[in-house]
Amino acid sequence: MSYFCRKKLNFEKIFLMERQQTTSNRQQALSNKALSEYNTMGFEVTSKYFYEIKSLREINRLIEDEVLKGEKTLILGGGSNILFSDEYFDGTIIYSNLKGIIVSPEDIEESEDFNSLDPDSVIVRCMAGEIWKDFVDFTISKNLYGLENLADIPGSVGASPVQNIGAYGVEVKDCIDCVYTIDLTNGNRVIFNNEDCHFGYRDSVFKKEENKKYFIFAVDFKLRRNAELKLEYGNVKEHLHKRNIDSPTLSDVANTIKAIRSEKLPEVGVVGSAGSFFQNPIIDIETFNELKERFPEMPSYPNDKGVKIPAGWLIEKAGWKGYRENHVGVWDKQALVLVHYGGGKPEEILNLMNKIQESVKEKFGIGIKPEVNIV
Ligand code: EPU
Repeated sequence: MSYFCRKKLNFEKIFLMERQQTTSNRQQALSNKALSEYNTMGFEVTSKYFYEIKSLREINRLIEDEVLKGEKTLILGGGSNILFSDEYFDGTIIYSNLKGIIVSPEDIEESEDFNSLDPDSVIVRCMAGEIWKDFVDFTISKNLYGLENLADIPGSVGASPVQNIGAYGVEVKDCIDCVYTIDLTNGNRVIFNNEDCHFGYRDSVFKKEENKKYFIFAVDFKLRRNAELKLEYGNVKEHLHKRNIDSPTLSDVANTIKAIRSEKLPEVGVVGSAGSFFQNPIIDIETFNELKERFPEMPSYPNDKGVKIPAGWLIEKAGWKGYRENHVGVWDKQALVLVHYGGGKPEEILNLMNKIQESVKEKFGIGIKPEVNIV
């Protein structure tokens, strides 16, 4: 792998953003930490060890002290795209809670990279532990274009590049300039430019097993002071029209996206879920043509890899929408979302997942893969 640092770092600025804290104390691991508040699925899971990271010093200290050596390690952000497969996580959780946002050129004047930006672009550097939806609201309050269609997605900023979050015709890769990481095996800082991230549909280099050692601590977003709004996806225009908005502003679009999401998706913290549980499968054109004959109403989105079929449609047509079995089920307004009503165990969701996969395979001949990260 050849990842190298193109950028001149301005880590001092990032250090300035860190919360003040004493440097003398060793980081203490919490043992048998309950994680129900750290996974939006809401399962009662515990981990062997748990560290909350609030500064780069703390993560460096863990690496220096070699506390992570030999331990299964999981970096956790908002916990909104994760399914613990067992009630006990036999390893170390590193919970990233690094905070801070800086906007160029107001806060960062001296960096060559920022000065070479075109005048319409703005770099916003955000620490990984910021809450994604608050960050999007912040960029909108600054009148910066780019992330408005990604409003209200649960999770943290640091998790956003990992699975290249996307919604309503936009993926976060469209706005990521670079991702700052620390290699947990040796403490080296490695910066991934947009191209180094190898972004794909809900995919990036960070999802590969061998790259799970990279602790993402900040992300630079390249946003614009002016840009065209993306209103083509689904019923975005229709929603705006219903609210009598002909020339939408940035916040009109974000508010519309929020309204559409709240109609379709369970409210985080009320019903356990991890957003879309499955990825939308991409099938080849021959398979698509055969299926289209059998199911003429099947929605489809051609792309450069084949034809993307909404897994929500496949699951609904296989009869699962609104299905409930004890503590878990399939959301009645969006079949792509599996839910946990509380008091259940991870294996219940895994069983349901298997049954849905089998039945979609049987009816359509299409395999659907989980989108959530099963650990
Ligand atoms: N559909 C059904 N039944 C359903 C759900 C969907 O027939 O129960 C059909 C819809 O009628 C529509 C098509 O499937 O024709 C697409 O539905 P939708 O616009 O709701 O999007 P999606 O493909 O199901 C994807 C993302 C969502 C994102 C939406 C909107 C994935 C895995 N999911 O869902 O992302 O919010 O598009 O852009 O790509 C997430 O990743 O967690 C997530 C929620």
